[in-house]
Amino acid sequence: MTDQLAGRTAVVTGGSGGIGSAICARFVREGARVIALDLAGDPSSDDVATVDITDEAAVTGFFTELADRWSALDILVNAAGIEIEKTIEETTLEEWNSVFAVNVTGTFLTSRHALPLLRRSSGASIVNFGSYDGFIADPSLAAYCASKGAVHALTRAMACDHGPEGIRVNAVCPGYIDTPMLEGFFAGGDVESLQDAIRDVHPTRTWGTPDDVANLVTWLASDEARYASGQLWVLDGGLTAQVQQMHPRS
Ligand SMILES: NC(=O)c1ccc[n+]([C@@H]2O[C@H](COP(=O)([O-])OP(=O)(O)OC[C@H]3O[C@@H](n4cnc5c(N)ncnc54)[C@H](O)[C@@H]3O)[C@@H](O)[C@H]2O)c1
Repeated sequence: MTDQLAGRTAVVTGGSGGIGSAICARFVREGARVIALDLAGDPSSDDVATVDITDEAAVTGFFTELADRWSALDILVNAAGIEIEKTIEETTLEEWNSVFAVNVTGTFLTSRHALPLLRRSSGASIVNFGSYDGFIADPSLAAYCASKGAVHALTRAMACDHGPEGIRVNAVCPGYIDTPMLEGFFAGGDVESLQDAIRDVHPTRTWGTPDDVANLVTWLASDEARYASGQLWVLDGGLTAQVQQMHPRS
């Protein structure tokens, strides 16, 4: 490791999740002080805070307390996210609203209330979580695809508004990442043939890991990325670079 984030402070939403926990671990190894925000956590730990990011009072309460502990916040990673596997016809209004509440409104709320502390950094970075599903659609994932498209647009808007204040804003847009979400997909059938099918759609013939995502997030959070802002960084093994291949029926 290179101490890329030595002395930096970071908050990671969804920090107990598959990707968020890999980001927290990597940030700590790079020398940062990190707090993971999630729905559940160890209340005795200073490194984990139990906050529902859809609850504005809880979010403001967290950042007000943080301002007493830290003089500035350097990095905010908005990795919390949920998905519902349904078409729009199957999706209830309540389900639609819950996906937007976490993926879009949660990103808005944490970013909004982190801004006063981020402005005190000598060079702050916000990393939002989009998805390849914000560019192209998976079947039966309508609300999720729409929410990630909204995060992409919000990322550009935030970068425009807050770049002049020394705050860079980017979004990471992962493809297939080996998390419990993907394991759930494997559990739905013959694991080997599903793994082969996923390899086949990737030019790199592999899916990604949470550590692959943490590598990119670490760079975006670091000063090396000082000229990177307002962009959607796709990390998908070439998945979305390739036209869908034909498999002639035999
Ligand atoms: N895993 C993938 O293949 C993949 C692909 C593209 C994009 N993404 C995105 O990456 C991000 C992380 O995904 P993951 O695979 O680690 O998912 P995950 O389900 O493992 O982790 C998400 C975390 O968010 C937390 N969370 C959910 N609602 C919350 C709320 N209201 N308040 C606070 N925390 C809340 C959950 O408790 C969980 O710990 C998500 O935004 C997801 O949409 C994942």
